[in-house]
Amino acid sequence: MKTVEELVDQMKRSEDLQDDVRGIFAEFLLSQAEEDDEEKPEQGTGMGTNSIRLNNGVDIPIIGFGTYKTTVKDGYKVISDAISVGYRHLDTAALYENEEDVGKAIRESGIPREEFFVTSKLARYALGYENAKREFETSLQKLGLEYMDLYLIHWPRPDYGDPNYDDWVALDRESWRAMEELYEAGKIRAIGVSNFLTHHLEKLLENAKVVPAVNQLELHPGYLQEDTVSFCRDHGIAVEAWSPNGRARLADNPLLLELAEKYQTSVPAVCLSFGLQSGYIILPKSTHPDRMKENLLADRLILEDADMQKIQKMPQAGWSGEHPDQETVQI
Ligand SMILES: NC(=O)c1ccc[n+]([C@@H]2O[C@H](COP(=O)([O-])OP(=O)(O)OC[C@H]3O[C@@H](n4cnc5c(N)ncnc54)[C@H](OP(=O)(O)O)[C@@H]3O)[C@@H](O)[C@H]2O)c1
Repeated sequence: MKTVEELVDQMKRSEDLQDDVRGIFAEFLLSQAEEDDEEKPEQGTGMGTNSIRLNNGVDIPIIGFGTYKTTVKDGYKVISDAISVGYRHLDTAALYENEEDVGKAIRESGIPREEFFVTSKLARYALGYENAKREFETSLQKLGLEYMDLYLIHWPRPDYGDPNYDDWVALDRESWRAMEELYEAGKIRAIGVSNFLTHHLEKLLENAKVVPAVNQLELHPGYLQEDTVSFCRDHGIAVEAWSPNGRARLADNPLLLELAEKYQTSVPAVCLSFGLQSGYIILPKSTHPDRMKENLLADRLILEDADMQKIQKMPQAGWSGEHPDQETVQI
């Protein structure tokens, strides 16, 4: 923890004042949080816990660190920073090409493996029974782990234009069968899916022995995928939010700016609190330790019901342009 003098000095030297002011605010909140925690054992303001229980009894931290595009320059450092500021839930994928960095950062943290919750994903170009088995072992080897906490089918069908694009029902069924076997063999603590809409889930459930524990979806203010979320809730499938900040595309949204002003906080903090209060597990990503810390404090901001409703009703905004059944649209 920096002294007040050091923080003031940092602020004076800063070329990017706005970000640093936010970082200092996060430091202040963290120091308040530490004081609070000495008085009451539970973390968070209103949620009372920082984990939820999946449908198979496994606990998952409600805030995970998203690692997509952290490898462009220095993935290992970014992931190590995230662990240093307190993240124990790390979200990676074969596609992100940073599983080695995630594994190395875990090992070199000196923190016991069991304290981490590690997710990786089966890439859409590798769907199918044999592929899934092989890809899982490759991911596990790259991570340098003996087991994975959560393994997801990344997308329900191959990429648009792939020759196997229309064979998605059989590919999903066979991938899932392989994952069920790995789960039953104790190599994965929970299995799930990502970007599965209701019709993909319905087809998967026709043959599944294990109901997916999780569905990871693009979810943020302005993109709520309500039908799929409701289907997941009805079937005991926990919902994870990818791009919970809308990958910074919501920074200028008038409603979110108004709410950030009202609660004296930032637009990302409003987005993340909205995600948690909606019952999602959130996976924010940042390359800046100050922002990582701010994001970890998301459960300390409680939005009023009326403000939650305003966000629920806002028009579509911040969409990535990605849809499981369509060609990606450049936004
Ligand atoms: N299953 C899937 O198909 C899928 C798809 C996409 C993503 N994901 C997962 O979801 C994770 C998160 O999604 P995402 O990376 O797309 O987007 P995101 O977390 O919504 O947003 C990341 C962007 O917001 C900025 N940011 C983060 N915290 C901030 C803060 N407190 N103040 C200001 N700016 C902030 C980051 O900038 P800086 O880095 O410069 O701080 C970055 O530009 C991914 O990393 C990945 O693990 C999954």
